[in-house]
Amino acid sequence: MLLIGLAAWLGAQPAFAQAQAMPVDVLHWWTSTSERRAANQLSIYLAANGVQWRDAAIPGGGGMAAVKVLKSRVLMGDPPDVAQLIGTTLTEWADVGLVLPLNAVAARQRWAQNMFPTVMELVSYQGDVIAAPLGIHRINTLLYNRRVFARLGLLPPKTWAEFELVARKLLAQGIKPLAWSDEPWQIATVFESVLLGEAGPALYRELIVQRKSSAWLDPRVERALTRLRWLRSIQGETPREQNWTDAARELLQGSVGMMVMGDWAKGELMAWGASPGKDFGCVVVPGTDNMHLYSIDTLAMLVNVRHREATQEKVAELVSSLPAQLAYNRIKGSVPVHRDADVSSLDSCARDSWDTFADPRSARVPSLAHRMAADESIKDAVAQTLWRYLTDARMEPSEAQRRLAAVIRAPSAER
Ligand code: GAL
Repeated sequence: MLLIGLAAWLGAQPAFAQAQAMPVDVLHWWTSTSERRAANQLSIYLAANGVQWRDAAIPGGGGMAAVKVLKSRVLMGDPPDVAQLIGTTLTEWADVGLVLPLNAVAARQRWAQNMFPTVMELVSYQGDVIAAPLGIHRINTLLYNRRVFARLGLLPPKTWAEFELVARKLLAQGIKPLAWSDEPWQIATVFESVLLGEAGPALYRELIVQRKSSAWLDPRVERALTRLRWLRSIQGETPREQNWTDAARELLQGSVGMMVMGDWAKGELMAWGASPGKDFGCVVVPGTDNMHLYSIDTLAMLVNVRHREATQEKVAELVSSLPAQLAYNRIKGSVPVHRDADVSSLDSCARDSWDTFADPRSARVPSLAHRMAADESIKDAVAQTLWRYLTDARMEPSEAQRRLAAVIRAPSAER
């Protein structure tokens, strides 16, 4: 009699009882110092609200390994409860019914009113809200070592002509002008910023969003490819594959003067104790003023046999709330997805990123290298083609252009 009464009582408070009782497995690829700390910030916030974050981090910047592990866990019938699933990958998983719709949470928290339209569009699919957005990263970020620049009387470059001048002066002092890694995802990350600067937002969208094969034969694409090869060639040593964190370390130590990378690299520098006002600075990649090349991190709640829906909804509610957004993004290097966020307490790089993203006059364009515009296979094919072009000096930019035009496939179904 007592147990039936207790069960009835428990049933009456499902959310609370389940949230406290039930941990959630969270699969993601955040393993660098800042990534780890930002994830911890979320887990502390969840714990304070009765949810236990059980970590399933998969190392490897850019998430290639994590997406593979996620796929194998799903095939084994053991998907995690929560996963860092971003961009077009989300809709692929929603298509096969593996993502828990969060319509009730989104309505309760008025996401459509409070969040940026670009963010809402990304997490909405065929009438459902399919993920909880965490933060907006800016890919077209150029970081520079302030101490080196001050010592040499240099200013951060606004144009590629200025960049060449700065690069020559750095090289003359035995300092590598630009941090570099031959990891294909890092090459693609640098390329898309260079491409945006050369092509402009309209052509960039034709290339990356509409994915018109013919647009890839535009002479501006050839210029971007030539620029990319030049950026790799100014290393003063044989380029090699290295983690993005090692490249960021070179920047901080001053053996390298500049770095083009998503602003997670800024988060990392700050996690190492460096400050944007003193040790390093951030500007946009030349030619991309008033443009925001974005990658938005999201957490999807996966359907599985453990039926932790109430807890998963609570996770979505908590991580998308303003307090969690500010605490997480301050460390991660990205910016809140709320258009009503007060970002005045964030660093100057973050404020500039948020202001640009929020400004209706700016051009917001999706990252290809970080899954905002095309599926995994196209993203990887482009990165591989760029890697092959850079590591084979005999391949002409025009040949790389033809190959890119061949691997790029126009989007099939509408969203
Ligand atoms: C991106 C991800 C970021 C950042 C980066 C480096 O794909 O969206 O959050 O962690 O990879 O690993």
